[in-house]
Amino acid sequence: MDIKTIGIVGAGTMGSGIAQVAAASGFSVLLNDIDQSYLDRALKGIDKSLAKLIEKGKITEDKAAILSRIKPTINLDDLKAADFVVEAVFEDFDVKKKVLTALDKILAPEVIFTSNTSSISITRLAAQTGRSAQFMGMHFMNPVPLMALVELVRGLATSEETFASVKALTEKMGKVPVEANDFPGFIANRILMPMINEAVYALMEGVGTAEAIDTVMKLGMNHPMGPLTLADLIGLDVCLSIMEVLHDGFKDPKYRPCPLLRKMVDAGYLGRKSGRGFYSY
Ligand code: CAA
Repeated sequence: MDIKTIGIVGAGTMGSGIAQVAAASGFSVLLNDIDQSYLDRALKGIDKSLAKLIEKGKITEDKAAILSRIKPTINLDDLKAADFVVEAVFEDFDVKKKVLTALDKILAPEVIFTSNTSSISITRLAAQTGRSAQFMGMHFMNPVPLMALVELVRGLATSEETFASVKALTEKMGKVPVEANDFPGFIANRILMPMINEAVYALMEGVGTAEAIDTVMKLGMNHPMGPLTLADLIGLDVCLSIMEVLHDGFKDPKYRPCPLLRKMVDAGYLGRKSGRGFYSY
């Protein structure tokens, strides 16, 4: 299938990062969100990120040319012009279900439809559409412009053709695809989130300060950032919701979300995006 225009639903951190990478790889992008202010914020972030990558020589094309390929829209119907769609709305089954059902009616029947879900069952999401064979998971990592990996996840009914097209598209976007099976959290979050959750337990139990925990993992294990700094980057609400998916999906108490993580989310301490998480921004 000849993909020229990529539709992206959700202009948050992940959606805007995917839009940036798609546009920088030569695709036309239709970026959708429900409110113009979210789109304005996304474009501002993309502009800043592109400027940084151009300054470092990682991108050689003119910034204005890349930005001209991104068309923001608050009208979901505009995505009917897309040849391929990535859903990147809030990580909640009911929110995603609403978007998937609406999009399914708008898109041409042959259009492949993917979700950037970080943990929700692809088979379950696919079942909300009338095109399970042309639906799969395409899980980008944050910050999308800097991270090489995309986890590709087939639902039970995903066709070989769909998988091959998404794999080829991932490579055209300059990313490295790795296949993961449709189990809660796939590979990335099955391993990453319990580590972050355990770091929050260590903090809650007073094993160390936030700085000590992060420094141990940075200097002792060569992680680029400590688990609590990373949790602040990902968003504590996202971390909690992924732990809940693991806990509900496996029914294994080893995945129980740390009470301190829940308390911080209840307090609105969501990490960088709210100005306060384990650290202040
Ligand atoms: N676009 C362009 N440039 C960016 C950027 C972006 N979005 N974000 C950061 N940068 C730049 C910074 O401005 C900085 O530039 P300077 O060198 O000019 O100052 C440069 O990148 C390096 O950043 P830092 O010095 O702040 O930090 P760093 O060297 O540690 O690199 C990092 C940053 C690549 C994010 C690195 O810390 C890292 O790899 N961290 C781990 C990220 C990770 O684990 N991501 C996965 C999260 S899990 C997920 O996404 C899945 C999920 O479902 C939850």
